[in-house]
Amino acid sequence: MRHFLSAADLTRDTALGLFALAADLKQRRKAGRHSEPLAAKTVALIFEKASLRTRVTFEVGVIQLGGRAVHLVGRDIGLGTRESVPDVARNLSLWVDGIMARVYSHATITALARHATVPVINGLSDLEHPCQALADFFTLWERGVDFGTMRLAWIGDGNNVCHSVMILGALLGASIVVACPPGYEPDAGVQATVRRLGGRLEITEDARAAVTGADVLYTDVWTSMGQEAEHEQRLEAFSRYQLNETLVEFAKPSALVMHCLPAHRGEEITDAVLDGKRSIVLEQAENRLHAQKAVMLRLLGGSVDDV
Ligand code: CP
Ligand code: NVA
Repeated sequence: MRHFLSAADLTRDTALGLFALAADLKQRRKAGRHSEPLAAKTVALIFEKASLRTRVTFEVGVIQLGGRAVHLVGRDIGLGTRESVPDVARNLSLWVDGIMARVYSHATITALARHATVPVINGLSDLEHPCQALADFFTLWERGVDFGTMRLAWIGDGNNVCHSVMILGALLGASIVVACPPGYEPDAGVQATVRRLGGRLEITEDARAAVTGADVLYTDVWTSMGQEAEHEQRLEAFSRYQLNETLVEFAKPSALVMHCLPAHRGEEITDAVLDGKRSIVLEQAENRLHAQKAVMLRLLGGSVDDV
């Protein structure tokens, strides 16, 4: 793996290796053990869109590994407007050891990777959010969930987070069912990737059928960043896809509730479910840090035993 642009850049073994490394990094952190494998390395963090978790976990992650982060706002560097994406990639490669970017168009992240001579990490595009899916499946792995028998029900928009969860779920042998209104299904190319990987995938309009017997329920906002003009239309389209206490009752009693956050409370999920006993959303958020540190170590080199 030279870059991490899509969950499809992983294999089952790479993902399991990253989970083990993330668990080691997490345990070292909690035990107060410190090492600086990324000492003297610098990572550029580019943001075309807002962020809390991705911004903080990448910046803190680089610092904890002994490196430095340079925060760049898309608007300021004029990615694709002031300067072409290939030229930004070529220039940044002269100064930094890695690039993480959150972009509108997935084509921007693939162009960055094509023209950079340093590793590029996708911190969310309109097509995928692979760091999120990696942290999510790490969270389930830590809890001892058996991916081979797991049924994950995605309720709502077939969006970027859904795509990465579908792909990584397929790689790990999970069964995925996506319940969404017509017109909001996951991307056809991503569905084809999942099927090529041998993934067990169902798409349905019936949220209740999707949730029935599920081990994991996952939802995300109905209006992603960049889709704000469609907000009213989306509120109407998704009104029957809210993850609320009534819907959750159809899942297994042991079912876990996941959300990548930020949540639009009262839209795709109710307070009672988001803050309820099944919710593992804060574990997911915490694990962004550990999973991404593992990715940076793998891509930028260095071992946790380096001082
Ligand atoms: N889940 C996630 O990526 O959060 P941010 O948008 O706050 O980075
Ligand atoms: N689907 C959401 C995820 C945010 C982390 C978005 O793209 O805005």
